Amino acid sequence: MKVLIVGSGGREHAIAMSAAKSDKVEKMYCAPGNAGIAEYAECVAIGAMEFDKLVAFAREKAIDLVIVGMDDPLVGGLVDEMEAAGIRTFGPRKNAAILEGSKAFSKDLMKKYNIPTAAYENFTNPEAALAYLETAKFPIVLKADGLALGKGVLICQNLEEAKEGVKTIMLDKKFGSAGNEMVVEEFMTGREVSVLSFVDGKTIKTMTSAQDHKRAGDGDTGLNTGGMGTFSPSPFYTEEVDKFCQKYIYQPTVDAMAAEGRVFKGIIFFGLMLTEDGPKVLEYNARFGDPEAQVVLPRMKNDLIEVAEACIDGTLNEIDLQFEDNAAVCVVLASEGYPVSYEKGYPIEGFDEFKKHEGYYCFHAGTKFDDGNIVTNGGRVLGVTAKGDTLKEARKNAYAATEWVKFANKYMRHDIGKAIDEV
Ligand code: AMP
Ligand code: GLY
Repeated sequence: MKVLIVGSGGREHAIAMSAAKSDKVEKMYCAPGNAGIAEYAECVAIGAMEFDKLVAFAREKAIDLVIVGMDDPLVGGLVDEMEAAGIRTFGPRKNAAILEGSKAFSKDLMKKYNIPTAAYENFTNPEAALAYLETAKFPIVLKADGLALGKGVLICQNLEEAKEGVKTIMLDKKFGSAGNEMVVEEFMTGREVSVLSFVDGKTIKTMTSAQDHKRAGDGDTGLNTGGMGTFSPSPFYTEEVDKFCQKYIYQPTVDAMAAEGRVFKGIIFFGLMLTEDGPKVLEYNARFGDPEAQVVLPRMKNDLIEVAEACIDGTLNEIDLQFEDNAAVCVVLASEGYPVSYEKGYPIEGFDEFKKHEGYYCFHAGTKFDDGNIVTNGGRVLGVTAKGDTLKEARKNAYAATEWVKFANKYMRHDIGKAIDEV
């Protein structure tokens, strides 16, 4: 079978590595890919938003299965275009990817179907938003409706900050048209957990849990990033929490989408907050998390291609989804200055060590080939993942492996997984 993966980050590297283990795969391509993905797939220089070129390429190579890793092409309707050309594609269609593409849509869906989430109001008019905020309780959360590289969420401590936030999102349009509509949401406190799931339109099977670290600096300080590290499983995601979420959040979400005529097939990523009043949905994503995929997929026992095909065919109920009884930690190696400004093009050394050690992975996020060398090519450069019997062991292993890798301006957080010490 010939597979095309769309995307270029650490998540797509983890997907490629997982897919490469499948006996079904004879040839893999990735558009546009990166220097690490090149080990498993032939990388082709087509951008993830170049739909016409992607469809033409898939046709020309007689691709049997396309896997879309990234949010932008999903929300933009790449799956629909591939399907229209008769190409089997794993991921939600445009009318279902709106679950991630519009926060106002997802909030209204949760309200309509009684899925636990923070109280909120949607606004298309900045004046109305400001009037509402005059009498609101603080802190309060402002969210640009559309995709904003994970940066469209502002937590405001007082009215002044909130006014500034409305200006940033709705008037200055810092996040572009994502700010045409804005969600104003109650501030929640609690432990955050990411739960990824496979969905075939009616059946949902959840994967092992994970936790991300979104802030750039140690102790959760500094700016929000795409994610600086993850661990899996989350010890805070207990059986009791899982039972509640299966009953009141996961299946109800899948059923709600189907009832709305927006049948969801692909990955639903539930961003949860474990509040004093029980688990609530922070956000939905319509794809694997990055860097959640880098700790979840290496622990998955199933054949990823088989599961993806079951989602497309509506036979997910026949799959026994299984994960290893161990743990994994991923530490992101970034370029100093990320997420604001940073330099690129520095040579990277140390990849060979990962080949010598079982259970250690070096996922490429922002890398490229330059004259035969692999050089830094982004803010998040690599994700170093290690497994262990326990979370603590996995963390020790992952940090030891970060020392194998050397490049100028290397930056990482030193407290990934620190929360597990509280358990
Ligand atoms: P989101 O993109 O919606 O997941 O938001 C990004 C981050 O902002 C989340 O991971 C939380 O840390 C934080 N956040 C979002 N919504 C809320 C909320 N209602 N209360 C507290 N924190 C929030
Ligand atoms: N790690 C968070 C995300 O992928 O959105």
